[in-house]
Amino acid sequence: MSENENHERSTVSVIGLGQMGTRLAQAFLAAGYQTTVWNRTAEKADALVAQGAVRAATAAEAVAGSTLVVVCLPNYETVQGLLGPVAESLRGRVLVNLTSGTTEAAGRMADWVAGHGAEYLDGAAMSGTRLVGRPEALFVFSGSPEAFTAHRVVLASLGNAVHLGADPALAPLYDTALFGLAWGALAGFYHAVALVGAEGVDPTAFAAVATGHMPFVTSLMADHARQIEDGRYPNDDGTVEVHAAAMEHLVDTSEAQGVSTDVPELVKALLDRARAAGYGADGIASVVETIRKGEGHV
Ligand SMILES: NC(=O)c1ccc[n+]([C@@H]2O[C@H](COP(=O)([O-])OP(=O)(O)OC[C@H]3O[C@@H](n4cnc5c(N)ncnc54)[C@H](OP(=O)(O)O)[C@@H]3O)[C@@H](O)[C@H]2O)c1
Repeated sequence: MSENENHERSTVSVIGLGQMGTRLAQAFLAAGYQTTVWNRTAEKADALVAQGAVRAATAAEAVAGSTLVVVCLPNYETVQGLLGPVAESLRGRVLVNLTSGTTEAAGRMADWVAGHGAEYLDGAAMSGTRLVGRPEALFVFSGSPEAFTAHRVVLASLGNAVHLGADPALAPLYDTALFGLAWGALAGFYHAVALVGAEGVDPTAFAAVATGHMPFVTSLMADHARQIEDGRYPNDDGTVEVHAAAMEHLVDTSEAQGVSTDVPELVKALLDRARAAGYGADGIASVVETIRKGEGHV
């Protein structure tokens, strides 16, 4: 069956209509798919039913209603508790689990689903609820490549649907890694807002300038990823030594403005450790060596 034929016949069920599950169901409906919905508190399905969704009376009915079954619940224990009693109805279907959890839980869930004759995709919604249904909303999936290929078009109704690989643990691994990345950037932003705010700069005015700076920052990632792969750190973007000195200025300026120094101190600690390990004259991507290995210069 071609991907397109499969797409035309696809139906989707969404189990769990909290903040995220509701947006998922809305996106499937907006893309024109027959969407069956179930929620423990039945009234939460009312608005979706008014928009054209099919109401399932039970979770079992929701599973039986579609080839593609999407669950979005608070945790894996809840998913297991809900689907455990109806596991036999999963046979021949694809379960997509957009519940947040650990890599271990994803592996256990994949084994459990396979044991009931179904295919499994773990997934993570990376762009909050606001962007769901728009092309820039990132959704990462991992697990059965065949299931992803067969349902790629339907899953793309949610946003930018990216398959990371066959190992189901990859989606929760990326989920936590990207969460840390986002927080690294946001911690820097919140510190910067406090710092310029001490001189009376309006957060909105600062955000406009900061947003214009971010393409440069993100452009470093691909270059630095290649350097990390090669294990060679050219210092075109400045040496560890130079950046450590600049970070010292940020700490001093923060102190002078009466702003907490914990965010720049954290970065300074990374740079100091890289310098102590012998990377002072290398490029800044070399800090990864001391993060992942805790070893000195080789
Ligand atoms: N919201 C976000 O921005 C966001 C972003 C990324 C990932 N996520 C992930 O998406 C998942 C759901 O988050 P959410 O924000 O949608 O949560 P939520 O708004 O709190 O909704 C939780 C849902 O789970 C249902 N539920 C809870 N316990 C249950 C049980 N024992 N049996 C059956 N149903 C149960 C609730 O049903 P009732 O309506 O009956 O209470 C509700 O539908 C989480 O894993 C979260 O980490 C959320």
